[in-house]
Amino acid sequence: ARLVVLVSGSGTNLQALLDATADPAYGAQVVAVGADRAGIEGLARAERAGVPTFVQRVGDHPDRAAWDAALADEVAAHRPDLVVLAGFMKLVGEAFLARHGGRVVNTHPALSPSFPGMHGPADALSHGVKVTGCTLFVVDAGVDTGPIVAQSAVPVEEDDDVEALHERIKVAERAMLVTAVGRMAREGFRVEGRAVRFGSPPR
Ligand code: GRF
Repeated sequence: ARLVVLVSGSGTNLQALLDATADPAYGAQVVAVGADRAGIEGLARAERAGVPTFVQRVGDHPDRAAWDAALADEVAAHRPDLVVLAGFMKLVGEAFLARHGGRVVNTHPALSPSFPGMHGPADALSHGVKVTGCTLFVVDAGVDTGPIVAQSAVPVEEDDDVEALHERIKVAERAMLVTAVGRMAREGFRVEGRAVRFGSPPR
């Protein structure tokens, strides 16, 4: 399966996919990596792995909708079977979902439906939860609201600050992402209401 991965930062989730896809038995390859900004470690990781990269900056377009359409086109050019948003810090819009909807997954550092948005680990800390984690979901028009593919739980420790907690989440997140994306790539998947099922539909 052809994966296009979108990043905005350090790209450790991307790195986990780059490492996993090096094994042909994994059943997927990262065919391109895109970002909403230049000069980030995630793009450097792709370049080191010899994977084509592209940048689509919102500021290079007259408005958000034009950016969204341009991003959709650039992603489409790589003929993805699955688009993975891995630490991509922009919301994809109508044009993107019209083009790629149903084949876009996003990883979020909280146990959805808790703590959607940009501050999952911080929200978990401020709410005093004892368990948090990460969620892989199929992207829909909402913010971190799509059908859940996989989740992984981690404990919150007494002395955690946001960084320590997020790092602990990211260890689980990378494993969750590699396992779930591999299954989607090898077995196929479909969304039935709020449920995501692996495998092709029964005859
Ligand atoms: C991940 O935890 C992702 O869920 C969140 O930001 C982090 C990105 O980490 N949105 P990286 O860029 O993959 O290292």
